[in-house]
Amino acid sequence: MGKQTWKPGNMLYPVPAVMVSCADRAGRTNIITVAWAGTVCTNPPMLSISVRPERFSYGLLRDSGEFAVNLVGRSLARACDWCGVKSGRDVDKWAEMGLTPEPAETLEHAPVIAESPVNIECAVRDVLELGSHHLFLAEVRAVRVDERLIDEAGKLHLERANLVAYSHGEYFDLGRSLGTFGYSVRKKPAVAPKRQGKGERPGSTGHGRPENGSKRNGTRSEKGRERGGKGRPKR
Ligand SMILES: Cc1cc2nc3c(=O)[nH]c(=O)nc-3n(C[C@H](O)[C@H](O)[C@H](O)COP(=O)(O)O)c2cc1C
Repeated sequence: MGKQTWKPGNMLYPVPAVMVSCADRAGRTNIITVAWAGTVCTNPPMLSISVRPERFSYGLLRDSGEFAVNLVGRSLARACDWCGVKSGRDVDKWAEMGLTPEPAETLEHAPVIAESPVNIECAVRDVLELGSHHLFLAEVRAVRVDERLIDEAGKLHLERANLVAYSHGEYFDLGRSLGTFGYSVRKKPAVAPKRQGKGERPGSTGHGRPENGSKRNGTRSEKGRERGGKGRPKR
């Protein structure tokens, strides 16, 4: 069996489809669906979104230099798609989709979407005019997380958000977990340990914390991973 060589194109999938809330300095707000988004730096935390200049949102983003990336769970999938096919020039996407603009903690103009489980507040640092899309390189100023995703020990259970992935024109649920970071090199216990209680898995600390014992949430444990250590490749 061979492979076909296709002409250059965008084939980096799956990606998140996110709802970007934005505003200009005059107070006009909007939501644009973006799939060309990505994490670009751990420290300082930075991400990028790429937006076509002809979008209504583009002018708002340029004017205020602010936006929020709102993660999309299953219950927001329809609104996410709708905001990606309608323009804020013609409709009030907030009202039409029953979404609530909530003041951001760190941004002056752009609101966050209250119904989204995770809001990532961003300040634009640079705009790269790449071609069809202009890339907004932004610093993350704050991350707001729905408390229902956080357990008593402070661990973030992002899987509870039922996040949506976008792949080659289609939206998908995330499937089952295949393992945790570094599982390929982790030593297996010689004898399977007895279950100590409901919900505990072999290898877990029993209270849902990361195995390095950190009491912190997922974002912080990510930093721990980056510090390296056995079986923990640096990204
Ligand atoms: C799943 C999906 C992903 C999209 N990704 C992008 C993107 O990364 N960049 C972009 O400029 N437009 C993207 N769009 C298109 C815009 O969301 C769409 O043109 C929207 O209507 C623009 O809204 P506005 O005119 O109110 O800004 C996407 C649309 C969908 C449905």
